[in-house]
Amino acid sequence: MTDYRSRLIGCGSYLPETVLTNAELARRVDSSDEWIVERTGIRKRHIAADGQVTSDLAMQACRRAMDHAGIAPDDVDLVVVATTTPDDTFPATATQVQAKLGIRQGAALDVQAVCAGFVFSLAVADNFIKAGQVGTALVVGAETYSRILDWGDRGTCVLFGDGAGAVVLQAGNGDGVARGAPGWGQAPGILSTHLHSDGRFRDILYVDGGPSATRTVGHLRMSGKEVFRHAVVNLAAVAHEACEANAVRLSDIDWVVPHQANLRILDGIARKLGLPEERFIITVDRHANTSAASIPLALDEAVRDGRIKAGDLVLMEAIGGGLSWGAALVRW
Ligand code: UT7
Repeated sequence: MTDYRSRLIGCGSYLPETVLTNAELARRVDSSDEWIVERTGIRKRHIAADGQVTSDLAMQACRRAMDHAGIAPDDVDLVVVATTTPDDTFPATATQVQAKLGIRQGAALDVQAVCAGFVFSLAVADNFIKAGQVGTALVVGAETYSRILDWGDRGTCVLFGDGAGAVVLQAGNGDGVARGAPGWGQAPGILSTHLHSDGRFRDILYVDGGPSATRTVGHLRMSGKEVFRHAVVNLAAVAHEACEANAVRLSDIDWVVPHQANLRILDGIARKLGLPEERFIITVDRHANTSAASIPLALDEAVRDGRIKAGDLVLMEAIGGGLSWGAALVRW
């Protein structure tokens, strides 16, 4: 069997033009810049324009990723969109992205794993590539959370933003070494993905609406403290799991590109893992929590400014509603 490995050959991202600062938000709800910065690290977020839908954001991020990778629409065999805020109930937002990009071949599908959606989508595309069924895949996380927020609920409306980020995966050869054996993991690409869900925790982070349950879209509801606790514990555990699966030490990780929900969660994970905070790529201060888009947005920034470079070991990890959480370990 061919030893395929999914290489990340390009990335791109897009943020809507409108910026909403904490000070502006504090004029709408009983909050303050001071509270938001101290409790979350968030200073501002981007908000999609009227009429700008999730597939518009995704299309912009994909175009930039395709340019970066030097590929054309004809090269793409699979489009996977991670989103919790689809354009419509159906068809899949991925089909809208596919059409907007002028891609006419291959398959397009959405993955719904809330804030963990990008890691789940990466795993889906990676497994198609490893099976030899797909040569080139576009994986994009795109969200318009501004449409599902209760703008009167200060406990949630200050936390989220809109945006999109994408990567291009292409089948390459692995290093022909058995997983975990000496030398394993030196060839570039996704080394492993690790996914988990536990539906018993539905009620700590959910949207109180949907086509089947209420025939309305609904609004995001969250027990912040509980989600916080699960986030630190589960994200530290899945980082260990990814390292053990590849026989690498936590200290071998050059960069952690985490889901960006709260700076205090990231501090907590860094402390639990014993990793310096300087190894974490942070964008939550400027983007807030963009759910499935947060990892590829952060990744794109760090690749383009030269922090992440060829040969680096990169850990991406995320947790969100479900609960669902996961990690991907990548040799850049
Ligand atoms: O993407 C994955 C999903 N999301 C997350 O990972 C988020 C996880 N949770 C969190 O980030 C934090 O729990 C929050 C930022 C949501 C909240 O921080 P906290 O330190 O857990 O605060 P809290 O919920 O315990 O609230 C403390 C106080 C409360 O007032 P009382 O009851 O002590 O009088 C809240 O009503 O802060 C109040 N509060 C606010 N005050 C000013 C809650 N939201 C605000 C606000 N401005 N925006």
